[in-house]
Amino acid sequence: LLGQLADRHGRVARDLRVSLTDRCNLRCSYCMPAEGLTWLPTEETLTDAEVLRLLRVAVERCGVESIRFTGGEPLLRRGLEQIIAGAAALRGPTGRPELALTTNGLGLDHRITGLREAGLDRVNISLDSLDRERYARLSRRDRLDDVLAGIAATDRAGLRPVKINAVAMRDVNEADIVPLAQFCLSHGYELRFIEQMPLGPAGEWQRSRLVSADEILAMLGAAFTLTPASAARGPAPAALWEVAPDATQPGGTVGVIASVTRPFCGACNRTRLTADGQVRSCLFSQKETDLRALLRGGGSDEALAEAWRTAQWGKPRAHGIDDEGFQPPERTMSAIGG
Ligand code: GTP
Ligand code: 5AD
Ligand code: SF4
Repeated sequence: LLGQLADRHGRVARDLRVSLTDRCNLRCSYCMPAEGLTWLPTEETLTDAEVLRLLRVAVERCGVESIRFTGGEPLLRRGLEQIIAGAAALRGPTGRPELALTTNGLGLDHRITGLREAGLDRVNISLDSLDRERYARLSRRDRLDDVLAGIAATDRAGLRPVKINAVAMRDVNEADIVPLAQFCLSHGYELRFIEQMPLGPAGEWQRSRLVSADEILAMLGAAFTLTPASAARGPAPAALWEVAPDATQPGGTVGVIASVTRPFCGACNRTRLTADGQVRSCLFSQKETDLRALLRGGGSDEALAEAWRTAQWGKPRAHGIDDEGFQPPERTMSAIGG
């Protein structure tokens, strides 16, 4: 019965990214307009039981081996702990699926112990600036201290490696690049700088203003001694560099996620499920497959699995951000799930 989520370009998806809500308590400029978006009505959002049914289908019939919960902001999903506990109950003797969370960190300090007890393995936290005013300006909320508390609590709870995500933005947080690296190295966190993608509000992204991986690496290279990490990267979005220890900081690892200038679509092993039950084979898919309708219409597990496999078969070869006539998807990042 087990079928894989293969596509016509020879890739197999084993990593599922699930958006649990399209809502967020920040308004990062690269992601959302200041006024927010029109949120999904409750009845269109999958219930906890519906999410868990689709996770079971993904794991038992589609070969999914790791699950990452995203949003919007997944901590805003009331049932998050129960969903994670339900997903953990799907684990076989191999310990799979691995369960991870990508969050903005707000409120994480109060919930991390419960999340770990529910079965969460790992957390990636967004932190685009260490300067309170710049953080408040770019996320449009004055919450830097809450994020830092969430990061520290995750480390204390022993969910390691703690990974930090920073989207690089021209004239916004370039001055934060080296300080963010110093902060993360000194705490033993793995920092990844992300090239901004055209997935936010219309008009927000301009190719000519991109802070590229080359630029980021030049700034880091001027401050630290970097060598490319030797471990095989596989399908991971992040390319990693080892940072040598020096008088001011211990050594460690930093990464760049260069979606635009060094796309990694060829090795992609990801499939996505939105909070309203749509499968997206790619972040940039123009097409979605409605598993919610199938589910609510009484579809069997195998019918759901087959619809998922068919959706994934049509996964585009690459995102084509640099191609002429590129069209961003209709939904923005917060509605797709990072
Ligand atoms: P790890 O397993 O911890 O390495 O997670 P990750 O880096 O895959 O996930 P995370 O949610 O932390 O995402 C970091 C950045 O990578 C975000 O900006 C994501 O949007 C981006 N990303 C994740 N998957 C894809 C993808 O399939 N394509 C592109 N272009 N970017 C992706
Ligand atoms: N480009 C690149 N990364 C983005 N993220 C959100 N919007 C964008 C974008 N337009 C990042 C967040 C978070 C992860 C889920 O995706 O900062 O770390
Ligand atoms: Fe919220 Fe994440 Fe979008 Fe920022 S990037 S507004 S934290 S969903």
